[in-house]
Amino acid sequence: PVRHRKSVVNHERVASYAFAFDIDGVLVKGPETIPQGPEALRMLNGHNKYNIKVPYIFITNGGGRSEKARCRDLSKRLGITVTEDQVIQGHTPMKDLVDVYENVLVVGGVLDSCRKVAEGYGFKNVYIPLDVMKWKPSVTPYYVLNEEERNIAKDVDFSKINIQAILVFADSRNWAADQQIILELLMSEKGVMGTISPTYDQGPGLYFAHSDFVWATDYGLCRYGMGALQVSIAALYEEHTGKELQVTRFGKPQRGTFRFAEKVLSNWRRETLSEHVENLKLEDPDEGENKETPFGDSDSEEDEADWGNDSGERPGDLVLELPPASTVYFVGDTPESDIRFANSHDSTWYSILVKTGVYKDGVTPRYTPKKTCENVLEAVNFAIEREH
Ligand code: G3P
Ligand code: MG
Repeated sequence: PVRHRKSVVNHERVASYAFAFDIDGVLVKGPETIPQGPEALRMLNGHNKYNIKVPYIFITNGGGRSEKARCRDLSKRLGITVTEDQVIQGHTPMKDLVDVYENVLVVGGVLDSCRKVAEGYGFKNVYIPLDVMKWKPSVTPYYVLNEEERNIAKDVDFSKINIQAILVFADSRNWAADQQIILELLMSEKGVMGTISPTYDQGPGLYFAHSDFVWATDYGLCRYGMGALQVSIAALYEEHTGKELQVTRFGKPQRGTFRFAEKVLSNWRRETLSEHVENLKLEDPDEGENKETPFGDSDSEEDEADWGNDSGERPGDLVLELPPASTVYFVGDTPESDIRFANSHDSTWYSILVKTGVYKDGVTPRYTPKKTCENVLEAVNFAIEREH
């Protein structure tokens, strides 16, 4: 018998292709939500003329809050449910450093927001510049902590602590003070405040969550980002020591982040397919009678998950062994990070540049996208039509 399962699932198939979205400049701009964003994602959730659900993840260089908090915010703004398994922030891959460093200085974000994120990742001893300023206010002679900052800062004797790594998690809210402290540590002996290494080669490692020089906010012109801070620190370091600054970079377009993203996307596609199969089971009046595969004796083509697989395997089999996405459409607004990122793997990734963020019409992008669209909705429409 033909089964009717549409009351539970509003989509009939799951696509073999997928999407990855940049956030700032594509879906949001500071406090504003880009108006076409909610509709674009609704379409991918199955509300499109092909009744197909398309898996998608988010890859932002932004950060400064936990992945959970980011999901809550995105869900609210976009009117969809975004889960932690779908989101990669600039600092997300830094989780892998938890077992490498015991004492870290985490820089950026509002007050101690990034300390909390780092502790959530499992870092043991997380210090922030405010702790250093509380320890010795003369470290930053022109900045006096206010009461809130003093309350948040920990009491630490930094002459007895060796900072092994400086992790710039989010945009600095206090460039002058943060740079002063970062540079002192970079030139110190083994990351101890108040010391100077004669050879300038014993300081802690420096890690940046991303290197975006500028980013798009609700102000008309772009604002300097973490990449600009990096340029500034490198210039000061070189001026002072005559040496080139060594930095480890995360975020787009770094290769490490790409590998991380592929893993996240693959897990999310598997998750989407399992959920689809579960929904079909729920809708199946004969479930339990025929346990062979959730698609059992279905003779309806529309029940099949569209994984572009010609091997004759059933979707139930594919839950364990999923073929890679046929195409990953990556929608971004910054040629230097987003388009470069997607183009670095252009056998499967397809770069789409939108005009709602950093990139502006009339400029030749430094990295050429496969397609340019006005906004994210146009990008999603274009890709879906291209696939069908
Ligand atoms: O600070 C965040 C900004 O540099 C970029 O965020 O979402 O455009 O990668 P996004
Ligand atoms: Mg962006």
